[in-house]
Amino acid sequence: MTPSLPLLEVENLVVNFYTRGGVVQASRGVSFQVGHGETLGIVGESGSGKTVAVQAVMGLISSPGRIEGGDIRFNGRSLVDPAGRKYVRQVRGKEISMIFQDPMTSLNPVFTIGTQITEVLCHHMSMDKGPARLRAMELLELVDINAPKKRLGQYPHELSGGMRQRVMIAIALACEPRLIIADEPTTALDVTVQAQILELLSDLQARLNVSVILITHDLGVVAQLCHRVAVMYAGRIIEVGDADRVFADPVHPYTRGLIRATPSLEDVTERMVSIEGVPPDLIRPPAGCAFSPRCDQVKEGCRRHQSLTPIGEDRHVRCWCAAQGKVPPAEPALVGKGPRP
Ligand SMILES: Nc1ncnc2c1ncn2[C@@H]1O[C@H](COP(=O)(O)OP(=O)(O)O)[C@@H](O)[C@H]1O
Ligand SMILES: [Mg+2]
Repeated sequence: MTPSLPLLEVENLVVNFYTRGGVVQASRGVSFQVGHGETLGIVGESGSGKTVAVQAVMGLISSPGRIEGGDIRFNGRSLVDPAGRKYVRQVRGKEISMIFQDPMTSLNPVFTIGTQITEVLCHHMSMDKGPARLRAMELLELVDINAPKKRLGQYPHELSGGMRQRVMIAIALACEPRLIIADEPTTALDVTVQAQILELLSDLQARLNVSVILITHDLGVVAQLCHRVAVMYAGRIIEVGDADRVFADPVHPYTRGLIRATPSLEDVTERMVSIEGVPPDLIRPPAGCAFSPRCDQVKEGCRRHQSLTPIGEDRHVRCWCAAQGKVPPAEPALVGKGPRP
């Protein structure tokens, strides 16, 4: 382990899907980093390329998709160069584990919970059956599942949705990963259970000092749980940095729009404002800033390519106006209004 290096570095990642309708440019030069013990939130409307980016990290892009540019380094070693294909198989499910949206599709309905957890322990941690069962019980306790011994003998359908997601988290933790990727882990659950699962994730992150990438639609969740946040739009990161600062003073007009569209936690009666217009077609993304057709502050320069520009300590934004210092200060109502309680 090299402490000075970020645990994960994604640099200029390009992923294309060759479909009948054309080439879908799902990832158009995505760059971000995750430090040791850090939680990075990735937000953005549906179809902005969040899942594709983390699938690339897990080595899970398959036909008709291809990684066609950039690099992904885990602990300083490439996961995508020719040797990286072997490396990614070594780290997937062991050093990097993933929690999916719907535990019903990721748990096998015909095997007991016990079999599914011990199988991971025997396979990845080379444990024998007996110790693996004991460890499985410990893991169920770690994710606050009561009567762990009884649970080992149960099948996924015998558990509630929240309980199944806890089992998925236990499986994700089984190999003592360094990075957990949670892609909308609570979308399928009701609000109260969502909050409990996210609290558990946050608690485990701090206790085990594991790094987490949390993909969610919910900016309130990011404000509460994440150290850093990356905002994605049309296959690119358009704003990234320290979560507190981004929420206190968002710069990209799209980030401002997303925050405005999030009802604040204090005032749930507040009217939801949505961002007008729809995200672009990734087969023919607009030139320059992809948000420009929806942006109420659009200028001529926005049609030109804009790279991520540093705008302060751990803050980058991809906005022509911001780079020229032409984005007006956020409305007072927006500044500090972030969803953070
Ligand atoms: N297997 C696939 N084949 C074709 N297009 C895909 C495939 N997977 C993802 N895409 C496209 O890539 C883009 C980004 O998708 P995705 O990463 O799933 O978005 P998000 O997770 O932000 O909602 C979308 O336009 C989606 O249609
Ligand atoms: Mg997704």
